[in-house]
Amino acid sequence: MASSSSYSFTVVLIVSITLLGFPSFSSSAIVERCFHVKNLTVNKLCRNQVITAVNGLFPGPALHVHEGDALAVTVVNMSPYNISIHW
Ligand SMILES: *[C@@H]1O[C@H](CO)[C@@H](O)[C@H](O)[C@H]1NC(C)=O
Ligand SMILES: *[C@@H]1O[C@H](CO)[C@@H](O)[C@H](O)[C@H]1NC(C)=O
Repeated sequence: MASSSSYSFTVVLIVSITLLGFPSFSSSAIVERCFHVKNLTVNKLCRNQVITAVNGLFPGPALHVHEGDALAVTVVNMSPYNISIHW
């Protein structure tokens, strides 16, 4: 009985260490994001200025992914310009 629970604890410990040691295996995911690119009016130094922003942010939002994740970004360009996206 004692050796059985000791064995179970060892298996759980090894699995836990394996998952901690190789996070890319345990956290691999499909990450989907949508970027809406459009005009945004900002007020700087008491003057309104139109800038091109992503999801209302400039610079655009950060993408948080882990090694091994698959990332799919849909870009909807509602700005008056042809654009390219870099990261
Ligand atoms: C976006 O901003 C540009 C540059 O200021 C302007 O020419 C255009 O009319 C604006 N478009 C919209 C939909 O506000
Ligand atoms: C965007 O690109 C298309 C295709 O090259 C071109 O016909 C169009 O004039 C461009 N628009 C602007 C605002 O540069």
